[in-house]
Amino acid sequence: MRVLVIGSGAREHTLAWKLSKSPQVDKVFVAPGNAGTQEVATNVGIQADDIPKLAMFAKRYSINLTVVGPEDPLANGIVDRFQMAGLTIFGPSRDGARIEASKSFARMLMRKYDIPSPEFKIFNNYSEGYEFLSNHEGQVVVKADGLAGGKGALICRDQEAAINALYDCMEDRIFGPAGATVVVEEMLEGQEISVFAFTDGETVSSLTAACDYKRLLDGDRGLNTGGMGSYAPADVWDKELEKQVREQVMEPVVHGMANEGYPYRGVLYAGLMLTHEGLRVLEFNCRLGDPETQVILPPMKSDLAQVMLASMDGRLRRTRVNWGNQSCVGVVVASRGYPGEYRRGLEVNGLDMVDSDILVFHAGTRRYASEVVTTGGRVLTVVGSGPTVTDAYERVYDNVERVTFQGCHFRRDIGLIEGEPPPGERPSNA
Ligand code: AMP
Ligand code: GLY
Repeated sequence: MRVLVIGSGAREHTLAWKLSKSPQVDKVFVAPGNAGTQEVATNVGIQADDIPKLAMFAKRYSINLTVVGPEDPLANGIVDRFQMAGLTIFGPSRDGARIEASKSFARMLMRKYDIPSPEFKIFNNYSEGYEFLSNHEGQVVVKADGLAGGKGALICRDQEAAINALYDCMEDRIFGPAGATVVVEEMLEGQEISVFAFTDGETVSSLTAACDYKRLLDGDRGLNTGGMGSYAPADVWDKELEKQVREQVMEPVVHGMANEGYPYRGVLYAGLMLTHEGLRVLEFNCRLGDPETQVILPPMKSDLAQVMLASMDGRLRRTRVNWGNQSCVGVVVASRGYPGEYRRGLEVNGLDMVDSDILVFHAGTRRYASEVVTTGGRVLTVVGSGPTVTDAYERVYDNVERVTFQGCHFRRDIGLIEGEPPPGERPSNA
């Protein structure tokens, strides 16, 4: 099999690495990829949003399976386009991707199929939203309906902040057309987990859950980022919670989408809040998460290419998905200044200094002659594994400082689970 992975982050490096291990896979291409994907695959100079060129490449190079990392191409109908050209591609159709690309669509579906959600209201014009918020005390989340690069949810601590957020979305259009419709939600408190399943539109595979750290600094302080690390499985994850998420969330969504005429095939990602009143869905995504992929795929025992083909062919009922039983901790190494402005083109050193059990997945990197240089804010995810999250934590922090570039920084508390004694030995400075 010849496989094409679309995207350029650490999620896509992980996908390319895992797929290259499949016994059925002879060759992996990544478009556009990074310096890391070059080590396990062949990079192709086509951007992830150039759907016509990607389809042409897949035809010309007889690609048997295309795997899409980011949400934008899915929301723009890459799957429909490839299928029309007779190409096999993994992921939901444009209609299916609305579960992520339209928050109002997703909330209406959750309401109709009784999927546990926060209270919410949908507004198509500013004055109605203003009227509602003027009579509503308390904390809310104001969300732009469309895709906004993960930045479209505005947490509002009071009424004034909420009205400002509504104005920014609907009148100032800070997220462009994505803010033409807005969802205002009750603000929930609790622990967040990211749950993943494969589905073929009917059957939902076994689930796995990871925790994602979105804030820049230790102790969940500082600015919001694209994710500074993650670990899996989530500390709260057990058979009972898996059963609840399957029965209350995953199966009703998959059946609901089919019932509405939008059969959903691919990975379904549910962002959940575990509140005192039970679990609630914060959002659905139509793809794997970043940085969650870097910690859920390494331990996976099943053949990823086979699972993806079974999802698209409606054969998931007969394909067991075994997520494995190792734990992983992934620490993102970022550029100084991220998530604001940062320098690019800095040489990355020490990539060959990490221990043999450590994985380094690249994101913002590029090969420049014999050097690897930075090109992004999130540069790498360093992943350690072990029988428990605490073992994985010790492995990764024993290694993460060996990979360096000017101004590099990372969080020191990824996978440090609250209420558990910290590991006996703190990471040493290598
Ligand atoms: P979303 O854009 O829906 O993925 O939301 C992004 C982030 O905003 C989530 O990961 C949560 O941390 C937070 N969030 C979203 N909705 C809510 C909510 N109703 N209550 C509290 N936090 C939320
Ligand atoms: N980890 C969050 C996301 O991929 O959207």
